[in-house]
Order: sequence, then C-alpha cells, then structure tokens
Amino acid sequence: MHDMLTLQEALARNLDDSAPEVVASMVDTISAIANACARISDLAGQGVLAGAHGLADSANSQGEAQKKLDVLSDEIMSHHLGHCQHVAGWASEEHEHHQLSDRHVRQGRYLVVYDPLDGSSNIEANISIGTIFSILPHEGRGRLPTEDSYRQTGHEQLAAGYVLYGPATIMVLTCRRGVLMFTLDKRSGVNGEPMRWLLTQENVQIPAQTKEFAINASNQRFWEKPVQRYIAECTAGENGPRMKDFNMRWVASMVAEVHRIMTRGGVFMYPRDTREPRKPGRLRLMYEASPMALLVEQAGGRAVNGTSELLDLVPDTLHQRVPVILGSRDEIDRIVSYHADPHENVSWQLFKTRSLFVQPQA
Ligand code: F6P
Ligand code: MN
Repeated sequence: MHDMLTLQEALARNLDDSAPEVVASMVDTISAIANACARISDLAGQGVLAGAHGLADSANSQGEAQKKLDVLSDEIMSHHLGHCQHVAGWASEEHEHHQLSDRHVRQGRYLVVYDPLDGSSNIEANISIGTIFSILPHEGRGRLPTEDSYRQTGHEQLAAGYVLYGPATIMVLTCRRGVLMFTLDKRSGVNGEPMRWLLTQENVQIPAQTKEFAINASNQRFWEKPVQRYIAECTAGENGPRMKDFNMRWVASMVAEVHRIMTRGGVFMYPRDTREPRKPGRLRLMYEASPMALLVEQAGGRAVNGTSELLDLVPDTLHQRVPVILGSRDEIDRIVSYHADPHENVSWQLFKTRSLFVQPQA
C-alpha cells in the first residue's frame, strides 16, 4: 500500500507529455474536485447521522425535487471549485445557470461541469451513488465565460471522471491518456490534511464482449424499435438468435452501472423513448453522457445515442438530455447496426409519428 502512487503523483506521470503549467493547473483542478468528493464521501458515509437524508424542499434546474444531499454536495463542489485559481466557471445539474469564480475568473483556463450526486433516489436505501464531472477548456481565457463557452463537443473534454460512493470510494478518471482508478484512503486526512487517493488500477479496459445488460425494463413499451429488438434477442437466451443466456442488472445509479461495466464489461442503456416527446432521453449530455462517453471510449468501449457517437454531439443547452447506449464495443456496434437497419427504422418512425403500437419481437 505504501508503494501506491497518490492522485497527484499518478497525474503528473500520466500528463508528462504536457507543459509544466498545464500539468500543475490540471493537478490543482482535479485535486480540488477530489477534495470535494472526499467530503461528499464522508457525508454520504455517515448516513442518517449526517442529518442529510430526505428532501430539501426545493427543485433543481429541471424542476426535479432535490434531496438534502444533492444540495449539500453541490455546495461542496462549488466551494472547492470557487477556490481553485484555474477554474473560470462551472455548471451543475442543480443550477439553471453557470457560476463564475469571484476571484479567479479571468485567470482560469478551465470550465467544469458536474452532476454532484448522481443516483440520489438511492440515498435512503443506502445503495451506491456518485459524482460525475467534466473539465473543458475555457477558450476565452482572460475573458468572462458565458453559457455559450460550455457548448463544446465531448471531444473537447480535457479530463472527465466519476466518483463512486459504494462500500469503497473510488474515482475513475481520464485525462485522454487511458483510464486510471483511485481508491480513497479513508484512514488518511488526519490533522486537517487533505485525504489521500491512491492509484489502484491503470489502463482500465472494458472487454469487447459481454453477456450482461442494464436497462430500466419498466419503460419497455416506450423504447425505440432497435432497442426492443436488441433486448428481445438477449432475453431469448440460448435458444434465441444470440445463442447464449444474458444476465440483467439495474441499480438506477448511472455511476454504479458504468463502474460495473468498467470492471467486467456490459451494456448500459437509457434509450430514446416516447414517454415525453420533448425529452429525447433521461440523461443529461454535458455532465452525465459526455464524461461517461469519454471514459468508456478511453477504456476501449463505445458510447452512442443509437445513431451517433455521444462525443460528436454539440450541446444546445447546459441541461440538454440525450439517449445513452454505452459499454462493451461489440454489443454497441450491434445496437448501432440495428438502428441503421432500414426495416427497423421504418417501424420506429411509424411508431413515433402515428403512435402505432409495435409489439416487441419475440
Ligand atoms: O441521474 C439520472 C439517474 O439517476 C441515473 O443515475 C440512473 O441511471 C437513472 O437516472 C435512473 O433512472 P430510473 O429512475 O428511470 O431508473
Ligand atoms: Mn445524475
């Protein structure tokens, strides 16, 4: 354990092809996020004793009820980002508009977008929750960022990651040079020092093949046709066209779902559906889909909305929603091919425009 690299040492090594000021500013920014997440981990780990369970009596940027821990996690992230001299502005799921650092706004070379507490419906059930973040360049360094400054594709991300608050607290991170995993040393941080994150795995790779998928099956009647076909083929098992049995998991915490895929492969889907025609998906592009897509691609997997790579999408707004299909590469290739199949698409178009009920294929 003593031989393990700390987050700061591992980052300096991972970024050793970059200019010293880039390494220093990136290490500082990621350390600020890591310190915030160590604090959130502590709060989440205290459970009901932290007094942070239950609803907050307020709503987030999209009118969804906020939990106390959503609000507290957002405040902790905001506080740490506001004290980081390299961050010009940040945007969160919990606020309609972005925020600017009081002091460092003109120096900052980065913009940060984040979901402070993903999967927060799981808090009281003591099931894994997480934080997701993305670091973008602030192209107009020296000028105040506007909300337009964040409208960059996922390819522009300089770094992305998530922190999983499970039995262990784990950060999974990419600076576009592979995927690193760190474990929070919960015995560290005595005498007011920051807590230590230790490198516990590098070069994380998602197996290309899998027999496991994750989808909220209660929405089946609303799914698009290519997804109906894919799931029907998986659940047909050994006697179906895939000629093998599949397993299913659904935690309802995207961070936990993606972490399982990072460790043993799998497919995660929150596909386009017809529930609310104005919402093409459940998950948010900038602080859920894009950072996860970069991590998954850096680990050899693939992330799409069905027809396009998630990293190619240009955000319209900070809180834009998108369909998400990601994980083991061979399976995602297959799902994309079903979306490209003209027969599948014709049925789906009819389903969408004329509300024809299409039975899932058995
Ligand atoms: O942030 C959205 C989220 O909580 C994800 O973490 C999770 O994958 C999904 O929503 C769960 O959705 P549902 O409540 O439909 O199962
Ligand atoms: Mn979320």
